[in-house]
Amino acid sequence: MSLLITGGTGYIGSHTVVELLNTNQDVVIVDNLANSSTKSLDRVEKITGIRPVFIEADICDKDAMRKVFSEHDISAVIHFAGLKAVGESTQIPLSYYHNNVSGTVALLEVMGENNVKNIVFSSSATVYGENNISPLVETMPTSATNPYGQTKLMVEHILFDLAKSDPEWSIISLRYFNPIGAHKSGLIGENPNGIPNNLLPFVSQVAVGRLPELNVWGDDYDTVDGTGVRDYIHVVDLALAHLKAVNALSILSGCTAINIGTGNGTSVLEIVNKFKEISGVDIPYKISPRRPGDIATVFAKADLAEELLDWQAERDLNAMIADTWRWQSQNPNGFE
Ligand code: NAD
Ligand code: WQD
Repeated sequence: MSLLITGGTGYIGSHTVVELLNTNQDVVIVDNLANSSTKSLDRVEKITGIRPVFIEADICDKDAMRKVFSEHDISAVIHFAGLKAVGESTQIPLSYYHNNVSGTVALLEVMGENNVKNIVFSSSATVYGENNISPLVETMPTSATNPYGQTKLMVEHILFDLAKSDPEWSIISLRYFNPIGAHKSGLIGENPNGIPNNLLPFVSQVAVGRLPELNVWGDDYDTVDGTGVRDYIHVVDLALAHLKAVNALSILSGCTAINIGTGNGTSVLEIVNKFKEISGVDIPYKISPRRPGDIATVFAKADLAEELLDWQAERDLNAMIADTWRWQSQNPNGFE
């Protein structure tokens, strides 16, 4: 039996595939390479000694997905595939709704046809919207402030409704906080297209000289130093949470949303200072106006993951930054 990993050549998917292969789990990756390259497969093979099965296909293409299920014995799906850039989602919302929502519905339909009713979904802390006070708890009301966030929220609603309609479905929606870091080998890591939106890829591209300086979006928040506070989580810890979630699918019934974070908050300037300390490289920055849509502080209550998945984050901020820096300094232009 194999696990189907949609989006498995992307950032979080490739790290999860490494951890799955390390535990001798058979995987089948489906990715349309919209935001990734097959070079990540070469690197995964270098790390694990195993070349994962890869099928270039779009999850929206039901015939292609039916072929995947007919040719492979799939026990469960880890569903990473999706578009993820918040800013872009406001420019091309229909592409986001089509890809992330219609694509997931198509995937679920093909799964149902094949009687595969186990899925772990990549959700996001974005579903907590802007009105809840951290620490964010799974029982808090959800909302969305941009089309990307809406797609995550809509898919969560679809998954809850599906599980309610048919008790054979077992679904875990993992709400990731801010994934950063890279595999300790420095062979795989985050490889964003164009100018990064997220803090860590931006800081690391400044550090290697690809970008001149960081804009710190606001220093007048009610936080430790006025800059935004987030719950950064090492991508390998996040990958390991997926292994635990897949195991839990056989125990948990229905649809369960679970935070995946550390429970700790770190400010933008704390990140910049830690990055300088670990890399030994200066990170020029300037304070700029607040970014629209940002809130001061976001961090998780991470207890449910421990209770239901027996998972907690193990890698600290030093490891997150050191591993980010190893990846970026060894691969200044990503996989190119
Ligand atoms: P990523 O872009 O590196 O990986 C996503 C992968 O999905 C890419 O390889 C892309 O080519 C593929 N893909 C996109 N649309 C597809 C389609 N229609 N069919 C097949 N493949 C498709 O992003 P990531 O950071 O690894 O994120 C993985 C998942 O986690 C996404 O669903 C994202 O929304 C979610 N998530 C990410 C973050 C984050 O900050 N990175 C936070 C919360 C949630
Ligand atoms: C972190 C902090 C910024 C860039 C986003 C998505 C969310 C989720 C994770 C997918 C904030 C500050 C950033 C920069 C800065 N993705 N910052 N200068 O906004 O918490 O979450 O990624 O689900 O949906 O919205 O992450 O990395 O963009 O920002 O000062 O150039 O860094 O203001 O305080 P965010 P981020």
